[in-house]
Amino acid sequence: MARLAGRTAIVTGASRGIGRGVAERLAADGALVAVHYGRDEDAARATVRGVEERGGRAFAFRSDLAAPDAVDVFYAGLDAGLAELGEEPGFDILVNNAGASGSGRVHELSPEVFDRLFAINVKAPLFLIQRGLDRLRDGGRIVNVSSLATRTAFPESVTYAMTKGAVDTMTLALAKELGPRGITVNAVAPGFVATDMNARRRTTPEARAALAAHSVFGRIGDPADIADVVAFLVSDEARWVTGQYLDVSGGSAL
Ligand SMILES: NC(=O)c1ccc[n+]([C@@H]2O[C@H](COP(=O)([O-])OP(=O)(O)OC[C@H]3O[C@@H](n4cnc5c(N)ncnc54)[C@H](OP(=O)(O)O)[C@@H]3O)[C@@H](O)[C@H]2O)c1
Repeated sequence: MARLAGRTAIVTGASRGIGRGVAERLAADGALVAVHYGRDEDAARATVRGVEERGGRAFAFRSDLAAPDAVDVFYAGLDAGLAELGEEPGFDILVNNAGASGSGRVHELSPEVFDRLFAINVKAPLFLIQRGLDRLRDGGRIVNVSSLATRTAFPESVTYAMTKGAVDTMTLALAKELGPRGITVNAVAPGFVATDMNARRRTTPEARAALAAHSVFGRIGDPADIADVVAFLVSDEARWVTGQYLDVSGGSAL
């Protein structure tokens, strides 16, 4: 039997990039996947189609995580999607993947961008967890997508790096808090992965080579490189791993 059969997984920001890769992988492992997105409905539907074409189950639902009513809209959409499929309004896995970048160097910062990045990258995951605690079943899994930028200096995007530092701290605290329920909470930290988030940094062969050179393997990461590690963390095999930060950067900071 598929190892996530009977489980429901939510992946935020699953319309594109790493989130789509995680949604595809967890669906391939047998989970029903709730594909959350912010703006790009066509892309979210493409994620769902891709899952279904491979025999998996998924549905899409929208919530702009920068909006003040993000959490209410999120759970209303999730509950509606589950009800439509005749499923219970609970879930087993939450992957907090949705994220925004682009804060710039310290002299380029604005309070508006700071507030937006903290809303999407920090406030939303924290309150999605808080409001999801009565729906998340005991023995469940939370995986937060952090970044290598919390362990190596990344002055190009200082606010972004700060938001991911908060994600690491949240991961540690909640792992202790939720352990008694058998829920694990871990963070995965990608280095450069080829997604829309860094498309502007990959427009020339020289630029691509420079990003690839960060990894000891000499290439830029693929969403599947991250998704495979998330699949481990949400599996029964990872039941004894919690509160951890897993570097999934292809050895970028060695
Ligand atoms: N790519 C990298 O090199 C890299 C490295 C380290 C960490 N990460 C982290 O990995 C995660 C995924 O990044 P990615 O590279 O896959 O990014 P991406 O391709 O730009 O996709 C971002 C995803 O987040 C969603 N999202 C963004 N803003 C949102 C909002 N306000 N409300 C709701 N959803 C929103 C997007 O939804 P829509 O499609 O609907 O807009 C999309 O699904 C992020 O947390 C990022 O910080 C990425």
